[in-house]
Amino acid sequence: MCGIVGALAQRNVSEILLEGLRRLEYRGYDSAGVCLLDSDGQLQLRKSRGKVADLEARLAGSPAAGRLGIAHTRWATHGAPSDDNSHPHMSGDIALVHNGIIENYRALRTQLEEQGYQFASDTDTEVVVHLIHSLVAGGRNLQAAVTAATQQLDGAYALGVISAAEPDTLICARSGSPLVIGIGIEENFIASDPLALRQVTDRFIYLEEGDIAEITTGGIAVRDRSGEEVSRPVKKLNGSYDAADKGRYRHYMQKEIFEQPQVVEATLAGRIGDKSVLAQALGARANEILPEVQQVQIVACGTSYHAGLVARYWLEDWAGVPCSVEVASEIRYRKAAVRPGTLFVTISQSGETADTLAALRQAKELGYLASLTICNVPNSSLVRESELSLMTEAGPEIGVASTKAFTTQLVALQLFCIALARINGLPAAREAELVDALHKLPDLMEQFTGLDSRVQVTSEAFAEKIHTLFLGRGVEYPIALEGALKLKEISYIHAEAYPAGELKHGPLALVDGDMPVVVVAPNDELLGKLKSNLQEVRARGGELFVFASPEAGFESESGLTVIEVPDAPESLAPILYTVPLQLLSYHVALLKGTDVDQPRNLAKSVTVE
Ligand code: G6P
Repeated sequence: MCGIVGALAQRNVSEILLEGLRRLEYRGYDSAGVCLLDSDGQLQLRKSRGKVADLEARLAGSPAAGRLGIAHTRWATHGAPSDDNSHPHMSGDIALVHNGIIENYRALRTQLEEQGYQFASDTDTEVVVHLIHSLVAGGRNLQAAVTAATQQLDGAYALGVISAAEPDTLICARSGSPLVIGIGIEENFIASDPLALRQVTDRFIYLEEGDIAEITTGGIAVRDRSGEEVSRPVKKLNGSYDAADKGRYRHYMQKEIFEQPQVVEATLAGRIGDKSVLAQALGARANEILPEVQQVQIVACGTSYHAGLVARYWLEDWAGVPCSVEVASEIRYRKAAVRPGTLFVTISQSGETADTLAALRQAKELGYLASLTICNVPNSSLVRESELSLMTEAGPEIGVASTKAFTTQLVALQLFCIALARINGLPAAREAELVDALHKLPDLMEQFTGLDSRVQVTSEAFAEKIHTLFLGRGVEYPIALEGALKLKEISYIHAEAYPAGELKHGPLALVDGDMPVVVVAPNDELLGKLKSNLQEVRARGGELFVFASPEAGFESESGLTVIEVPDAPESLAPILYTVPLQLLSYHVALLKGTDVDQPRNLAKSVTVE
């Protein structure tokens, strides 16, 4: 999704802006641009379709420098990726970057065209810069013009605005799209994500919905939607994680797959004792709220939605608590019937996904008991707006295809499910068994990442295929869904997942020798049924690739390749079997030569609807 960086300093900020853009590349984008106010008071605009490296090449041919600047990576929504549609957009001596979607842009465009403004792009964004220009022309200063302009906007926005007429001012605003202010010493910055600014500061102000901030060399003034000056807390980020560092790995995705043993351990740390989930694991307020929970509604998007689907099995089995799981973009637009005592749970890596956030805001009007978010980014919008939060400790995830965020979500969800199950009568011996398994998880994760070279060999059978089918039963069905999503995201091979019992109700018609069928087959109570389903595939000439432990009793033969995985406790199987499926998609993508970390058309942080 679009990314914003801006800076006002006593030094040339062009390299800070470019480094910020590089650090935002992981969000997914198709063009980049920068605008700097030079020492002659001229706005210098450079923008380019393609990667930040293409923008850098353009800057190398036509350098620009300045103490004040804004920059942007664009993920096209209105208007194709092109130089013209890239941000910043300009109107006279004003330049602007935007993340979000202006829903009433057509009406505003018509109105501005009638006033004589000419449009250079097909974007919704360009109306905002002309609107601000018209308000400045009417006598307002930049801050007042941005405030008045935002009052006319419907939709979502984070904005960064500069003007050649006000060389010591950077204005930013947020409503529906994330924006932070980074605080330096006599210099200040803005960005969509603190990661973009970690090279220059670790102190941040997180703007609230409707806030407009005026950053000058003298300080920062934040006003809320009503125009009142407000004080927003400054938060210091811990940790020295350098997202720009791939270490010895070829891709971020690969690095993130191999980090899973450590981040799973970090997510468990301080939350489990020898035999039980610790009372403080979900925070003090959870101990008041969880006893009231009669039902759970989980809402998420993409991979996080798959984590929710897994949790449903655990909640209903261990806690006996009914659970529904729905994608955020659906639930937010239907009239959901809410029973008393229903806990609303969101799951999100970024904490900024527009649909999930909108669903949470709507839930607050609908009589849910309380809200809990399982999230990876402290201080993100979902965390700030939920009553309870349980953080995953995955660290920043850069690869667009989610890996370690997913497995740590499953770990956090398992802690939540066990805590709720204990309140609902889970026997202590069963809790001890589940917790004992969790203690073994980091080591087992390590063993599962050790399947890498075996999976690499297997991947060769997929690289030339056009379609694949993933099968699982019970709690492994969502894992099959996640395996299929990974493969399609990064290798562009069409992949579908089915509960194996549904094969004969449709997908079997597709099975032939050209359609590899991937099977997640842990040694559980559904194994016998699964084996019968696989016979149906074999009988139609389908080629099977089965991930199973030796105890499951599979043997490789013609048309059946068994990828043997370590034996593991049943409660951990969904978490562990995810790993070889991640590795499979990674190696297939390598063979196909696709852009593993930034697959085409996709974005990491989906901050528009
Ligand atoms: C995008 C990402 C996915 C992610 C989904 C939900 O589609 O590419 O990896 O699962 O958004 O994002 P969230 O941050 O809410 O987990």
